[in-house]
Amino acid sequence: MKATAKANTNIALIKYWGKRDEKLFLPMNGSISITLDRFYTITAVEFKRDLQKDVFLLNNQLSSEAEGQKVFRFLDIIRELSGTDLNAVITSENRVPTAAGFASSASGFAALSAAAAKALNLELSEKELSALARRGSGSACRSIYGGYVEWQKGERADGKDSVAHQLLPEDRWNISILSVMVASKQKKISSREGMKRTVETSPFYTGWLQTIDTDLQKAREAIISKDFEKLGRVVEANALKMHATMLGATPPFFYWQSGTMEVMEQVQNLREDGIPVYFTIDAGANVKVLCLPEDEQKVYEALLTLPSVKEVITCHPGAGITYL
Ligand code: DP6
Repeated sequence: MKATAKANTNIALIKYWGKRDEKLFLPMNGSISITLDRFYTITAVEFKRDLQKDVFLLNNQLSSEAEGQKVFRFLDIIRELSGTDLNAVITSENRVPTAAGFASSASGFAALSAAAAKALNLELSEKELSALARRGSGSACRSIYGGYVEWQKGERADGKDSVAHQLLPEDRWNISILSVMVASKQKKISSREGMKRTVETSPFYTGWLQTIDTDLQKAREAIISKDFEKLGRVVEANALKMHATMLGATPPFFYWQSGTMEVMEQVQNLREDGIPVYFTIDAGANVKVLCLPEDEQKVYEALLTLPSVKEVITCHPGAGITYL
C-alpha cells in the first residue's frame, strides 16, 4: 500500500485571496495560475499495519510537531474517504525555495493527496483529487494540473464544485517566469492569516470582489489567445489590487520591503524601454517577473543589477501530477 507522486508548485496570475469557509478551504473568488517546472515536492505514502502512529519525514528529517499535525490531520480526511484506520509513513522531498516566497504547501498537499489516494486505491478523478488537495491548502488544488489552470470558486456548501481545471497545457504556450529573491526579513503574517484579516476588516475587500470576475475573464481570454501583453497587464493590476486590500485592514499590514519596490520600478523601466514585462507578488517580499522567452536574458540581467536582488531563478510552465 505504497505510492509516490510528484507535484510542481504554482504561481497565481489572478489571486486567491479570502475564504468563505475556512474548514473546507472554500474561496471567496476564483483564481488562475501557472504550474511551474522547477519547484516541486515528491512524496511517498505507505500505509502499514502495526504502525502505532503516522510518521512524517521532510527532506530526510523527522518533522516538527506542528508540521506533522497538518499532514496527519489531512491524512484523516483521506482515511475517512477510504474507510481505513491504518497509519502511514510519509516521506517528502521538498524542492521549493520557501525563501523565494513560494508556498511549499501548494506542491506539498498536491503530491500528498495524489500519493495517499493512490496508495489506498481510491481511483479519484482529477477533479476529485483537486477538491481533496484544496483541503490541505487552497492553492494546492491548482497544482494537480500542468500549464495554465483556473480554480473555480464553486457555489456548493460542500465544496464539491470548488475545483481546478486546465485552461491550456504547459507545452502550448511558453512564457518565462523569473523568481526574484530580494533581501528581506522573515515575514510576520502568513497568507492564511493575512487573507482572513482582510476579509473580516478591510473596506477595500468589496472592491476586490466587485472586479475579480472581470480580471478572471481578461486573463482567461489572454491565455486562450496567447496575448502576452493583455495577460501581463491584468496580472500586474490584480496583484497590486490584492496588496491594496491589506492596507485597509485593521490592523493594516503589507508584505513589501524596499527590494520589492526596487524590482517593481525596474520592471516599469524595462517596459518603458519597450520590453513587454510584468510583475506579480504573493504574500511575501519577493517578486515574480513575467516576460517572453526571447527577452528572458535581458530581463534577468537587468534584475541582477539591482543592489537588493540576491538571486533570480527562471522558470517555465510545468506539468501536473506525475506518479513515480
Ligand atoms: C497570495 O493557498 O497558501 O499566494 O488556503 O490558507 O493554505 P491557504 O492559503 P494559500 O494562499 C495563497 C495565497 C496567494 C495567492 C494564490 O496563490 O492564489
